[in-house]
Amino acid sequence: MPNKYLYINTIGCQMNVYDSAQIAMGLAALGYQQTAILELADLVIVNTCTIRAKAEQKAFSFLGRLARLKAKKPDLISAVGGCVAQQEGRKIFKRIPHLDLVFGTQAIDRLPDLIQKIETQRCRIVDIEPAETPRAANAGARVPAADQVSQFVTIMRGCDNFCSYCVVPYVRGRETSRHPDAIIEEIQEFAQAGVKEVTLLGQNVNSYGKKEGLCSFSQLLSRVARIEPLLRIRFTTSHPKDLDDELINAFRTNPKLCDHIHLPVQSGSDRVLQRMNRRYTKALYLDKVAKLRDTCPDIAITSDFIVGFPGESQADFDETLDLIRTVEFDGLFAFKYSDRPNAPAAQFEDKVPQQQSKQRLQVLLDLQETITRKKNKTLVGTCWTILTEGFSKKQTAGSLNQATPAVQWTGRTTTNKIVNFYDDHDSAALNNMAPGQLVDVNIEKAYSHSLWGKPIESRIAAARLKGEGSYAA
Ligand code: SAH
Ligand code: SF4
Ligand code: F3S
Repeated sequence: MPNKYLYINTIGCQMNVYDSAQIAMGLAALGYQQTAILELADLVIVNTCTIRAKAEQKAFSFLGRLARLKAKKPDLISAVGGCVAQQEGRKIFKRIPHLDLVFGTQAIDRLPDLIQKIETQRCRIVDIEPAETPRAANAGARVPAADQVSQFVTIMRGCDNFCSYCVVPYVRGRETSRHPDAIIEEIQEFAQAGVKEVTLLGQNVNSYGKKEGLCSFSQLLSRVARIEPLLRIRFTTSHPKDLDDELINAFRTNPKLCDHIHLPVQSGSDRVLQRMNRRYTKALYLDKVAKLRDTCPDIAITSDFIVGFPGESQADFDETLDLIRTVEFDGLFAFKYSDRPNAPAAQFEDKVPQQQSKQRLQVLLDLQETITRKKNKTLVGTCWTILTEGFSKKQTAGSLNQATPAVQWTGRTTTNKIVNFYDDHDSAALNNMAPGQLVDVNIEKAYSHSLWGKPIESRIAAARLKGEGSYAA
């Protein structure tokens, strides 16, 4: 079969990253080889996100660029997938006349057939239908690219929570969990291919398998932990209302589960939380944080916030700032509220003016910056085991051949902090190092988004399990 080139532009969350890998795998069977050069492509797919208006705009501006390319190259096949495709369906054809295909979030299994049809018949297709069989939710198993240390694995799709601001339940459908055997098989293949870390993905991992009567999420984590030579397990996202003791205890008992939880809180005001339909209070959230820290003292906690939710008063916002000061998160993402189609909050009155949301966002980010710097500073002088990922941005593989400057590597702690390091005493040991190794690093400098350190005695640590990971040097 002749080789054809596929270019994928992935916008949005890790689910889309995972889906794009599935898309590439499915199309490889049709002879499509992935390229990073847009101009080379015979088929261009944009995998879109619609979580906020800005993400949606990003998709349409890329499609505009694509129109210009298509004018030069009329045989090019162009397709839109993902959450904007699911939301807008056929309407996208009106806006983007040159487009060949709109495929929804549950059409990925059918994509190779759809592309084949377009290749032979040059027709235009919209497919935003639900998955045909439960198998679609179980599809998996693919071989990762060489040197890929870390991989995402979708364990469940969709969401049943219907937070009032959120578009996900409408564009991803109802929550469905993949069978644990399919997940384990996929991770086993990854591990055999050299993957050292997996991140299990779901909108609300706490409810994994409940509807289908599979196993609990913690039981799934235990099964994943038995896979060798996998070193680390992460997951996202956990919903505070469903975070239970069984999962909190897993941070103590599961030897491979990393000491980090992303626990989006959205707001510190009970009134706002209620209007968001989050179904927990600030007190309940603080209680879960306390339990997590009791069980796993080193645990890093990160979160998501929405500022300027309809009706958010200064007093509500002050509650949010108070929560941030109380918890002292290790990091957070904060977003200005954005009206989304179908989401009930779009109909709420008393919208907060843009200028005010913008100001609040800045105040919130400034506060967190102070906290992050303070927390990172306390790490100077401590030692952490880093899983190496590759070279940091400042230095590239080319510098491997140079005696000086020493190679700068990058990796993460179990608490998900980025550490860059090199060793000026013995760069030979580092030059022999590969991505996916555990190295003990002494932290010497702290910045707001990363740490800098030196490996201890240039020693590449033997594969170690959690518990030995951090100690005061
Ligand atoms: N399932 C995850 C989050 C998925 S969306 C959870 O429940 O936490 C990722 C983040 O985008 C959310 O946590 C929220 O902070 C933000 N977000 C979602 N909808 C939004 C909207 N309409 N406007 C602004 N931010 C939004
Ligand atoms: Fe959206 Fe809420 Fe579901 Fe998260 S839990 S995906 S915020 S509806
Ligand atoms: Fe965006 Fe869809 Fe993910 S809306 S955040 S790509 S689930």
